[in-house]
Amino acid sequence: MKALFEAFIKAIAVSIDEKSKHTGGHIQRVTELCMMIAGKINEDTTVFRDIHLSEDQMDELRIAALMHDTGKITTPDHIIGKSSRLETVFDRIELIRMRWEYFKANQKLMAAQKKLSILDQTGKQEEMARIDALCAREIEILENEMAALSHINSSREALDQESIDVLEAINEKSCKTSKLPYLTEDEFENLCIIKGTLTSKEREIINGHARLTEKILNKLPWPKKLSNIPSIAGAHHEKLDGSGYPLHLDRENINTQARVLAIADIFEALCAVDRPYKKPMTLSETIKVLRQMSENQLIDKDIVKLFIESGVHMDYAGRHLFPDQIDL
Ligand SMILES: [Fe+2]
Ligand SMILES: [Fe+2]
Repeated sequence: MKALFEAFIKAIAVSIDEKSKHTGGHIQRVTELCMMIAGKINEDTTVFRDIHLSEDQMDELRIAALMHDTGKITTPDHIIGKSSRLETVFDRIELIRMRWEYFKANQKLMAAQKKLSILDQTGKQEEMARIDALCAREIEILENEMAALSHINSSREALDQESIDVLEAINEKSCKTSKLPYLTEDEFENLCIIKGTLTSKEREIINGHARLTEKILNKLPWPKKLSNIPSIAGAHHEKLDGSGYPLHLDRENINTQARVLAIADIFEALCAVDRPYKKPMTLSETIKVLRQMSENQLIDKDIVKLFIESGVHMDYAGRHLFPDQIDL
């Protein structure tokens, strides 16, 4: 029964990882990191001399780690892996590119019609040249707009004021003949995302997975010795200063296991080599972020310190990072 139970948990973990091609292996790697860090806590005779995770607590941590992203089972894949501002089930930039091609064709058509209408007038050569120049100018504007939209859509940088001005100007426009707006409301909203690729609504959907993880795991009749699994797993995005989610727990209410899981989750996510929406950080960059987060009271300072000083990060890097990421 125990073997069946363990296998069932792994089956769920693998399904979550497989659901998105972008997070393959995340759960396994986070679990591995958790066990490595917790092992060092148990060995430590300095800061952690009074903390010893029992065998059952180690089991709780391991299973909580395997199940921590279970809530993602209902999170739409296209939101989890959204790699550009306009991406939905597909990247809408191609839709906009087609629309711009239509606007350009429309300019050429209007110019041709104007030229046709003056065919039998005297002095038409000059007028035709004027029409052509006007048309060329409009097409150039459209091409510049398209280049700006394409850049904004896939740019990893935060949106600057200049880009926002460009977007607002484009958003004011609509095609004169078809009355088709240049951008839909939703496209405009997505292009205006200041940082990253998610709107606040999408961010909420993603963040909902931690709450759902706890809700799903609470449905299972855990034996008493494993009863903390739902709360540990559900707390993996909580921060010690109370700024995390979903419950805004503070340091008194986040136990050692949940603290370890939070650190492992962040570390893995920052340097994972298989996320297409962002470049993996190097080991030194990842460690720098962890240090900063612990300075800012977001994650446990002592565990981060132990994590680095005990060399867990190097062990892990040797197994899971590209050689050129290991810059320490
Ligand atoms: Fe998560
Ligand atoms: Fe995670």
